[in-house]
Amino acid sequence: PAITPVVLADAASVAERVAALLLADRLHPQRPLGLATGRTMEPVYGALARRMARLEAALATRVRDTWCSFNLDEYVGLAPQDPTSFAATMARQLVAPLGLDPERVRLPDGQAADPEAEARRYGAAVSAAGGIGLQLLGLGLNGHVGFNEPPSDPAVACRCVVLSDHTRRQNAGGFGGDPGAVPRQAITLGLAEILSARRVLLVVTGAEKAAILRRTLEEPPSADLPASWLQHHPALTVIADADAMLS
Ligand code: GLP
Repeated sequence: PAITPVVLADAASVAERVAALLLADRLHPQRPLGLATGRTMEPVYGALARRMARLEAALATRVRDTWCSFNLDEYVGLAPQDPTSFAATMARQLVAPLGLDPERVRLPDGQAADPEAEARRYGAAVSAAGGIGLQLLGLGLNGHVGFNEPPSDPAVACRCVVLSDHTRRQNAGGFGGDPGAVPRQAITLGLAEILSARRVLLVVTGAEKAAILRRTLEEPPSADLPASWLQHHPALTVIADADAMLS
């Protein structure tokens, strides 16, 4: 199937467009929002905070009172207070700037004694909440979504995974540039939960993502390129900047 991305001039324009879609979803919330972390999402949450600040007070209160989101993933072994955890990232980039109740912004518990059991509990919590409505996704340089590393079948559910060296290098920036300091495991929602979302929003910026984005959209779906399974989703929107669409 041919997927036509929405291409905007730059990462700032992409962030504004995505923030507008997230806010529209939260003004008429039906199902939980699925959230992602990463460099791509930082300006998105910044743009969302600015839009919240401009909302009429009663609407902003409604957004806060009805907020319900589940993040895709978390590193195993990091406490939520650890500044390098995704929980702490969400606290800084989303919870504090929007004035949200932290209880309404859920992530897997990275310091659970039994990560496999925690993954099952988290997947069940998403299901119990009705599944994800709008799922925000970034794209890993090796084609991962969430932390569904190659190879990943479309049926895999929330689980504990071992991170590839490639991904640990990609994410070393958050750990003082040292890939060895990046945790070796993570809990991630699976492709099963991601593909069950009502709508999927794949956000891709920067020239270094151009080759993997092209493959994601054009290659026959395969486990070796987990993001390629998104081609099967009936309501996929891809928003990219011009750099990510060059190749
Ligand atoms: C990370 C995260 C993903 C994220 C992706 C892209 O490893 N687990 O949720 O979307 O890789 O990250 P970035 O936006 O920093 O390129």
